[in-house]
Amino acid sequence: MLESMRPQIQKIVDELLGKVQEAGSMDVIADLACPLPAMVTATILGVPTEQQLTQWAHDLFYVFDQPISIKDYEYLNKVALEFREYFSSLIAEREKKPKEDLLSYLIAAKNQGGKLNHDELLAICAMLFSVGQETTENLIGNSVLALLHHPDQMQKLKAQPTIINSAIEELLRYDSPVQLISRLAIEDVEIGGETIRAGDRVDLCLGAANRDPAQFPDPDRLDLTRQHYSLPFGAGIHYCLGATQARIQGQIAINAIVQRLCDLKLNTNKLEWRKNIVLRGLAALPVTFSCQ
Ligand code: HEM
Repeated sequence: MLESMRPQIQKIVDELLGKVQEAGSMDVIADLACPLPAMVTATILGVPTEQQLTQWAHDLFYVFDQPISIKDYEYLNKVALEFREYFSSLIAEREKKPKEDLLSYLIAAKNQGGKLNHDELLAICAMLFSVGQETTENLIGNSVLALLHHPDQMQKLKAQPTIINSAIEELLRYDSPVQLISRLAIEDVEIGGETIRAGDRVDLCLGAANRDPAQFPDPDRLDLTRQHYSLPFGAGIHYCLGATQARIQGQIAINAIVQRLCDLKLNTNKLEWRKNIVLRGLAALPVTFSCQ
């Protein structure tokens, strides 16, 4: 289903770039990376691509950002209630008039033998928006920055757009949008001479694994044609549900930027990274360019 949505995702990317193309400058985060994931999730679900969804998607994710204050929880509660009300009315509408979209399929699952209840359906919608937002934003922002720092690789992609699949894998490896995941050991295990006891919490640094010299020759070198398997989306039973969706968005967005915008240059000498140790991404990425 996601593969068949490439033309729709391309259209969203083209529209977002179309808004800034004349100006010759943009903030890659605010103008493309931030609006894109919520618009794509809305399109997959089959709901209107309203600007409000991007803000909700951002805010809802922060429930995972511990510790947060009571005041933050109160704000997040308000956001969750607004989201709930908005989606409850969309669900009621769609129940009367089903379409060929994910929301209608989820409603059908709810109505067929109670595979989902109403709250679970709402939770899936909130989850799709929240977990797919900042992660995908970081993929696009970190990738553009890596290409700006490696003009030879940017030129290579411009000359050979068909290498985009391996390019996105390498960009995900080089500056991973999710740096850290956690596990609770269920039994004693020895790794690298250290014993991890049952019940211990372990933080696994995906960002470091993806630069492991034992796995990747010359790991700090960006090589868009590198053939390898890295771990940007985790592994095992918790492997990212949205990996395909994220890859497709990254492939379309990065190829559009590289192909459509000439002479792309960083327009700041002070980059601001978001303060988060799990997710690695820029608060802003101002660039200038000339149009083709
Ligand atoms: C570049 C973008 C993305 C990156 C780098 C990323 C990364 C990850 C990683 C590393 C995990 C594993 C967490 C763990 O093992 O504890 C994960 C899980 C997950 N991701 Fe993503 N993700 C991205 C985009 C998305 C999108 C677009 C969605 C929404 C469809 C999504 C939905 C999920 C869900 C639901 C899980 C939990 C799966 C489970 O626990 O069974 N992700 N993601």
